[in-house]
Amino acid sequence: MPPDQHQNNNSSNNGSAATSTAILDDAPDSAISYTDAIDYWTGVPATVDGVLGGFGNTSLPRTDVRGSLQFIRSVRRKVPAFDEIGKGTALKRGCDIGAGIGRVTRDVLAQVCDKVDLVEPVLPFADQIEVELSRANVLDKLGTIYRVGMQDFYPEKKSYWFIWCQWCVGQLKDEDLVKFLMRCAEAVVDGGLIFVKENNTSTDEDEFDSTDSSVTRSDSSFRSLFHMAGLELLVTEIQQGLPAGLYPVRSYALRPFNYS
Ligand SMILES: C[S@@+](CC[C@H](N)C(=O)[O-])C[C@H]1O[C@@H](n2cnc3c(N)ncnc32)[C@H](O)[C@@H]1O
Repeated sequence: MPPDQHQNNNSSNNGSAATSTAILDDAPDSAISYTDAIDYWTGVPATVDGVLGGFGNTSLPRTDVRGSLQFIRSVRRKVPAFDEIGKGTALKRGCDIGAGIGRVTRDVLAQVCDKVDLVEPVLPFADQIEVELSRANVLDKLGTIYRVGMQDFYPEKKSYWFIWCQWCVGQLKDEDLVKFLMRCAEAVVDGGLIFVKENNTSTDEDEFDSTDSSVTRSDSSFRSLFHMAGLELLVTEIQQGLPAGLYPVRSYALRPFNYS
């Protein structure tokens, strides 16, 4: 699901919340194979260009990083409880899911967190994380690297200021994504948030991608799955300024419904 693998034929993408919350057996996500996905990613070079599907040397990485930092700033302005944690003296721990070689941690999370844990099941990518963080002089921000898939990640309860999932949750079947998000909801501290930044299809349909055995979801599918996971959507924005012809990329900031 790096952006290059998809074409954007119609960028009208402001879908409303899905009315059905049923998970269907013949839905595109039923074709996902976790082993095929790992085989695919293991054959990809452990570089920015590799994790971004050949877009590493375009304006995409810089635009993406700028957009993510801007989105975090805008969420901090709009969500006072989240901002309070960010200003406080408590350790601001982040978690980067489907982290690849640590690009997002290196360029985004290290700028705002004290420590970052990373979850990445593809071993050559996970092994590259330390190299990338030390090159950028942010190795002191490195927490634990969990070499597992999201579906097998059971984070400690109330341990993260925020959890960031980018260009990776399409690797999970709907049911596993809902369960994973429920565990994330328990893993953030009071006032903490879950961020999801992913491609959206240009229609209301999800699409299976056999290249990396993933699904690209519509905005309405995401909203429905977030709802099923007990997450409230607080802020959402489309990433601006991406190269033409790609799927829209949308960021979501989410908080557990039971937050008091
Ligand atoms: C398109 S890359 C994005 C990497 C990183 N988030 C970034 O934006 O630079 C997708 C990443 O998801 C990882 N991935 C694949 N299956 C996964 C799973 N089940 N759980 C967690 N990560 C997975 C891949 O190994 C790869 O690092």
